[in-house]
Amino acid sequence: MVDLEAEKAAAARAAAALVQDGMKVGLGTGSTVAHLLTALAERGLSVRCVSTSPRTEDVARSLGLEVATLEDLGRLDIAIDGTDEVDDTGWLIKGGGGAHTREKIVAAAADRFVVMADSTKPVAAFTWPVPLELLEFGLSSTISLLGEAQLRDLPRSPDGGVLAFWRGDLTDPAAAAAFLSSVPGVVDHGLFPPSMVSDVIIARGPEIEHRRLA
Ligand code: 5RP
Repeated sequence: MVDLEAEKAAAARAAAALVQDGMKVGLGTGSTVAHLLTALAERGLSVRCVSTSPRTEDVARSLGLEVATLEDLGRLDIAIDGTDEVDDTGWLIKGGGGAHTREKIVAAAADRFVVMADSTKPVAAFTWPVPLELLEFGLSSTISLLGEAQLRDLPRSPDGGVLAFWRGDLTDPAAAAAFLSSVPGVVDHGLFPPSMVSDVIIARGPEIEHRRLA
């Protein structure tokens, strides 16, 4: 029986080891990031962090990590986050926790974007639907343009966005990402391209696989 929490903690420790004293660090959202926050706090480094969600910010502060705004910190040295799935080429589906818009902004603001994964996250072909954040204005029109989209039973994002899933064809993730970005009313979608990803750290039991993409 796979101990997923132990795998998440192992991936998080390996990712936290990449952070150096004085760095500006982007923090993702989710249960793997919860392990990262503990591992990072345990290292006792002097780092300044940007959070992608109120949840992450609260926990980070409670562990003694300094949290500032992206406006204050500007370019980040590293951002670290979990993922819902990662394919063999490094495409990600993120946003299970509804935080993908902020997560993508923070990943894009970082020189190095490190993704942590337990053994259930690597896939040959995506099985997850793509999380979407949508503007409330014109919502039914946006949903109808998207086709195959359903609202999620989640509170709005901290930025007021409505959260949905898109269940369209993902055989070509770049084409799907381009389509989703082309629909007015889509704030952002949870497909992250390999060009954005520097490292994927995968825990399988006690083993760590470190894939370097850039
Ligand atoms: C949140 C995310 C998370 O990184 C993703 O859902 C993975 O979460 P977990 O680490 O809990 O498995 O994208 O928006």
